[in-house]
Amino acid sequence: MGFPIITAEEAASHIKNGATIGLSGFTASGAPKDTFDAVAAIANAEHEAGRPYKVSIFTGASTNMHVDGALSLANAIDRRAPYQNTPDLRKRINSHDAHYFDLHLSEMAQKLRYGFYGPMDFAVIEAVDVTDDGRLVLGTGAGISPTIAAIADKIIIELNSGISRKLEGLHDLYLPADPPHRLEIPIYRVNDRIGSPYLQVDPKKVIGIVPTNVTDGVKPFTALDETSAKIGANVCDFLVSELRAGRLPKEFLPLQSGVGNVANAVLYGLADATEIPPFTMYTEVAQDAVLDLMERDRCKFVSTCSLTMSDEAQARLFAHDADFCRRICIRPSELSNSPEVIRRLGVIAMNTALEADIFGAINSTHVLGTKMMNGIGGSGDFTRNSYLSIFSCPSVSKGGLISNIVPMVAHQDHSEHSVDVIITDQGVADLRGKDPVQRAEIIIENCAHPDYKPLLRAYLAKGKGGQTPHVLPDAFAFHTAFNETGDMRNAEL
Ligand code: COA
Repeated sequence: MGFPIITAEEAASHIKNGATIGLSGFTASGAPKDTFDAVAAIANAEHEAGRPYKVSIFTGASTNMHVDGALSLANAIDRRAPYQNTPDLRKRINSHDAHYFDLHLSEMAQKLRYGFYGPMDFAVIEAVDVTDDGRLVLGTGAGISPTIAAIADKIIIELNSGISRKLEGLHDLYLPADPPHRLEIPIYRVNDRIGSPYLQVDPKKVIGIVPTNVTDGVKPFTALDETSAKIGANVCDFLVSELRAGRLPKEFLPLQSGVGNVANAVLYGLADATEIPPFTMYTEVAQDAVLDLMERDRCKFVSTCSLTMSDEAQARLFAHDADFCRRICIRPSELSNSPEVIRRLGVIAMNTALEADIFGAINSTHVLGTKMMNGIGGSGDFTRNSYLSIFSCPSVSKGGLISNIVPMVAHQDHSEHSVDVIITDQGVADLRGKDPVQRAEIIIENCAHPDYKPLLRAYLAKGKGGQTPHVLPDAFAFHTAFNETGDMRNAEL
């Protein structure tokens, strides 16, 4: 006797105004789909009837158009964490319609278990297979599923026939004990598996199964632009020079690669950097580029929290034999982003900045200091604990109207203490062992766009004293110039 099969509308009818919901998945991968189109429809109907309807959503990272997209259009999101990247939700966040708190992804699950965000009413979990006693094969993202299955009062399972069942065996699900009983997470090598390939849920909590065949809908990456390709090449050249200098072990170290266009360009660059031996990845997202690297035997093994791959790449991946697929391990964000494991394995962290300042601080999240872009994601988990921490970004944005190298970041996500190297299309600034003024000189000379070098040099020259000679009245001159004239080159210093 299995679980009742229910429609998305029936599942959604259980979810009332004010509910707190935990979701499976990480990015669009493994996130539930149909149930939330139905929740959004309820929200629209309730709002039309003049009644309030909002829910709180906690998950591994960002979600998809069915969750963040549809719920934001319906203005139905109350609290939201830990990451997002949907234009409509971004608008809701920046207009204070949705209460978003941006969190290190490694901390989401444990903070829910600690009770910091209150009780959880529902877990909605995508699976590609389920047994009558509640054993699930998860979809393409593990996220915080073990935690929400444990703490939620009720569970809705979305059984997705549009995603390959060949995912069975790829997950490594493990729930660490909470303090004061926490022990080490026993991952000593990238390919160690420490948990179960299945998620066991309590059958008594299950409301029913919603069948769906809607795919993750991840967009394939568009062709690399010239600037991203240049940044990718600069990162690869830098890693090769580190290898030659003996500052990286000759067998190399596991790589983490962030999200976005630049991160993708770095991965494509690695395909051709054959002086770097075949490598492993300990990361949180495996994008299409990772499959290419695996097919070319450049990447030997990837430990990730999600397969954030387009439908086409998923089809290609699962057309490979089981041995090829077993080169992938999908872990919950608590493991994929674990500071302890990242430090132990010696992960090389490669993340993208919106802007960097001349002293080495990084803004990854706030456009011009105020507007939330996406969130910190896993960049802090990896940056702070890595063997080597690299940030890259284009030297300028918006056709040169914005310099991504500024006197002082208008919002700080990563301090200079956590940043080893900054790389742009212009070049590489190796900050290791340098004091603030030395860092500023090398960042300006090697990373800033030529249009902005004179302004940045003027700012540095104006500093009168202190180890980090900021000129506080002028620190945001670039941002002010952009806000007032639409061009940072008009900064007055
Ligand atoms: N000020 C204002 N806008 C800026 C900017 C700046 N300093 N730098 C970039 N932008 C704009 C770009 O013009 C672009 O705008 P558009 O979408 O209107 O064209 C947009 O921001 C994205 O820039 P792009 O260069 O395409 O960035 P990306 O796709 O490589 O993403 C981040 C960059 C920083 C947004 C992204 O990496 C991110 O969200 N990082 C934080 C999370 C993270 O690092 N996770 C990694 C752990 S795996």
